[in-house]
Amino acid sequence: MQNKNEEVAFFTPLADEDYAPLSDDLHDFVISIIGPHVRGKILEAGCGTGVLGRKLSTADITGVDICPSMIRTASLRSKHKYIVGDLEDKNLFPAGSFDTIICPWVLHHFPDIDTVAQNLKTWCKPGGHIILVEPNGDCLVNRLSKLVRDVMLLTGKSIASYGTSNETDHKCSVYLSHFSDCDAICIERYGSDMHEAKSRDRLVQAKQMLYGAAKWLPQKFGEPGLIIIFRNG
Ligand SMILES: C[S@@+](CC[C@H](N)C(=O)[O-])C[C@H]1O[C@@H](n2cnc3c(N)ncnc32)[C@H](O)[C@@H]1O
Repeated sequence: MQNKNEEVAFFTPLADEDYAPLSDDLHDFVISIIGPHVRGKILEAGCGTGVLGRKLSTADITGVDICPSMIRTASLRSKHKYIVGDLEDKNLFPAGSFDTIICPWVLHHFPDIDTVAQNLKTWCKPGGHIILVEPNGDCLVNRLSKLVRDVMLLTGKSIASYGTSNETDHKCSVYLSHFSDCDAICIERYGSDMHEAKSRDRLVQAKQMLYGAAKWLPQKFGEPGLIIIFRNG
């Protein structure tokens, strides 16, 4: 179960920095893949500062995030509608409210995606698109990184550079099984070529070097990022 206080506490100070987990290159790549599938009334679920939505050339976007300071920053940066809410609250929106739901870099913040996946399917119109952009839980570097994180947690060390303890890099098969009543119309793995070692944190720098080395592995195990686009059943 997701520890919601930890999510809000972790992301509150980051909102002031206009936080975005992806580099510009990665955002542009993601937009090039998802852009043709985005249409109509859009929900940016777990929008953070709304950085991805701002890059989409579409007018009708609602952003929702559990962290009030993220919503404050998003509202200052754009004219879209932003609200504070929990994606595990099924009453957040009426059924069939959206043509497209984009969930960028969010579902790995839920150790169990059962409730949130069900809600996304309910809020999306039948035939609408549900777009997930996530870490690739099959990627060997991501798996090693989570192992290091878990050892640090067990020994009581800080995990600030690893985000929150909720973070779980789900495998592609986990997403496919939770959305098995939908068609997966696009599965794309990406990112090892585009990571920039900007962080001063040694662990993050090491991870980014390993991503570079892992690009020689088959995509499933080498690429750190995953995009899946579903047609809602
Ligand atoms: C890694 S950030 C991604 C932010 C944004 N989507 C982006 O790509 O820049 C994860 C976001 O999910 C939000 N979040 C985590 N749990 C949530 C929940 N239960 N309901 C809504 N938002 C949540 C966090 O507050 C945070 O803004």
